[in-house]
Amino acid sequence: MSADPRSARARVAIQRTFIGSVVALSIAFGVAAHAATAPAAAPSGAYTTAQAAQGGSVYAANCASCHAANLSGGSGPALTGPAFAKSIDANYKTAAQLYDS
Ligand code: HEC
Repeated sequence: MSADPRSARARVAIQRTFIGSVVALSIAFGVAAHAATAPAAAPSGAYTTAQAAQGGSVYAANCASCHAANLSGGSGPALTGPAFAKSIDANYKTAAQLYDS
């Protein structure tokens, strides 16, 4: 851990990209799964298709090597499923924590 504020800012920026990608992908996968069973519209407030696609590109370039293209995990843990949901619930109780931690 460095006390250099530039490092802290960079870390926050990376975390935002990190979490934003996962959230966008989770929503994209969730919407896809939902669409398979019910032809309902995306929930209001969800990411747009373009935003989800952008998050998907960031994920493919920076994350899929360890977490797998379909989020199922590899050298890193799965970013979907019950264990992931439990971890997110335990570690990020509010949206603000995603950005302020
Ligand atoms: C070099 C391999 C590697 C890459 C690349 C990588 N991760 Fe990870 N990731 C891990 C490992 C290992 C863990 C588990 C250890 C930890 O939490 O520090 C982890 C943990 C996580 C967690 C926490 C999972 C949980 O259950 O709480 C999230 C979310 C995550 N990664 C998302 C991402 C995203 C988004 C990217 C791309 C921006 C990414 N990771 C890139 C290896 C990687």
